[in-house]
Amino acid sequence: IPPPSLPLLGSTLTSLMFTCLLSSLIPLLQIDHFGFFEDGTFKQRYLVNDQHWHEEGNPILFYTGNEGDITWFCNNTGFMWDVAEELGAMLVFAEHRYYGESMPFGQDSYKDAKHLNYLTSEQALADFAVLIRELKKTVPGAQDSPVVAIGGSYGGMLSAWMRMKYPNVVVGALAASAPIWQFTDMVPCSVFYKIVTEGFSRNGADCSDSIRKSWSAVDNVSSTEGGLKWLSNEFSLCSPLEKEDVLVFKAWLQETWVNLAMVNYPYEANFLQPLPRWPVQVACTYLQDSSLPDAPLLQGISKAVKMYYNYTGNTQCLRISETATGNLGYLGWYYQACTEMVMPMCTDGVQDMFEPQSWDFEAFSEECYGRFGARPRAQWAGTVYGGKDIGSHSNIVFSNGNLDPWSGGGVTQSFSSNLVAVVIQDGAHHLDLRFNNNYDPSSVLKARALELKYIKMWIEQHSLSNKAAAPCCL
Ligand SMILES: *[C@@H]1O[C@H](CO)[C@@H](O)[C@H](O)[C@H]1NC(C)=O
Ligand SMILES: *[C@@H]1O[C@H](CO)[C@@H](O)[C@H](O)[C@H]1NC(C)=O
Ligand SMILES: *[C@@H]1O[C@H](CO)[C@@H](O)[C@H](O)[C@H]1NC(C)=O
Repeated sequence: IPPPSLPLLGSTLTSLMFTCLLSSLIPLLQIDHFGFFEDGTFKQRYLVNDQHWHEEGNPILFYTGNEGDITWFCNNTGFMWDVAEELGAMLVFAEHRYYGESMPFGQDSYKDAKHLNYLTSEQALADFAVLIRELKKTVPGAQDSPVVAIGGSYGGMLSAWMRMKYPNVVVGALAASAPIWQFTDMVPCSVFYKIVTEGFSRNGADCSDSIRKSWSAVDNVSSTEGGLKWLSNEFSLCSPLEKEDVLVFKAWLQETWVNLAMVNYPYEANFLQPLPRWPVQVACTYLQDSSLPDAPLLQGISKAVKMYYNYTGNTQCLRISETATGNLGYLGWYYQACTEMVMPMCTDGVQDMFEPQSWDFEAFSEECYGRFGARPRAQWAGTVYGGKDIGSHSNIVFSNGNLDPWSGGGVTQSFSSNLVAVVIQDGAHHLDLRFNNNYDPSSVLKARALELKYIKMWIEQHSLSNKAAAPCCL
């Protein structure tokens, strides 16, 4: 089972006062920024909106694209659209290589380890840096524009790293729900699933207890042919469950609970799936008695799961091979997790509601080698991005919602007055990057206001340093 991918943003578009326009300027980027043998180039897709960008030197908000189709992120990062007018900002959304349409080797990009070799966060950051410098050179009036990096989830990690690695290119970064510490030896591997569980148990201990008991109930029921039939029917599965599918079935349930915890938003939203407001609370209404015997317990589980997969009422049957939106590049993320983005995860069934599973790096490495012909390097992320020793950096805001399982690997305490953590009570996965909504808790309104304040400060600092050209101190 691969570690969970980092699903991202999403919302029903309440205000359609924008369009994500494909830029006409398509830069040719090096496939390999760090070596000279592979000299090929590729086209990176990026989107631009300059409807509020009227004056020379006005700021650029730059979305550091993550593992998916960039138009989807563009549609769903409402925060940038909400602040563009006030800042007079140009918006740029850059697609991450190997996702969406930005394929270094076209159809062959995912062919084998040789072609996948250039799918790394370092290459992606270098793409962003080259693109920004290219934009400043070619867009009239942008030469002195301060650029602020913004991103959520893995995209938030990239924003933070962008500021750390290219402080000459971006004046600051907003890293929303960015688990930059979800790596080996930085946080306990148990933290993620513990937070998932808390999201359910805050709606009553019976809710998480029901899920904790459901695993052995599935084992019990699926031990007979009749039981397998009953399960297939109860969960309206598209293809009948076979004995050898039971592990996949349980993994699918587990991922469903994870996704629900991540998108536990205070209003109806179409995210990984269309969902009601506070969907975890709704799921828990079906899980109120954990003392039930196997069959009725699993009927409750089935109702909760169908709330996730069939909120619209249009789903004919459930597929245990699918859990979320097709806009994310699962295979690419699997490869990244199998190489440099190694995120240890474990469960114990006590502090969390899942079946106990320890983190087994050796087994993971074998799985990765079998799948991709490449092996993970568990220590590399800490070496290249600094792990917990990031105190010397500046102008980064890390925001995290306490409901978001990824907050366990995030920065939730400030280092200094310009390396700042913002914690959003009742916030799920990067709620702050979404469009303003009437149901937003006051915590997220405050967080957005603070984020805007920092962005303005970085922009101001930039214009001051541009003016203060006098030599100093020699
Ligand atoms: C983004 O929004 C546009 C306009 O509403 C829509 O046509 C497009 O399908 C959306 N793209 C994605 C990937 O959601
Ligand atoms: C599964 O079956 C065993 C043995 O029949 C029983 O002890 C156990 O309580 C059952 N599990 C659940 C969740 O009902
Ligand atoms: C989804 O909901 C509709 C309407 O309630 C229902 O007719 C349909 O059977 C449901 N699908 C599944 C897979 O449960």
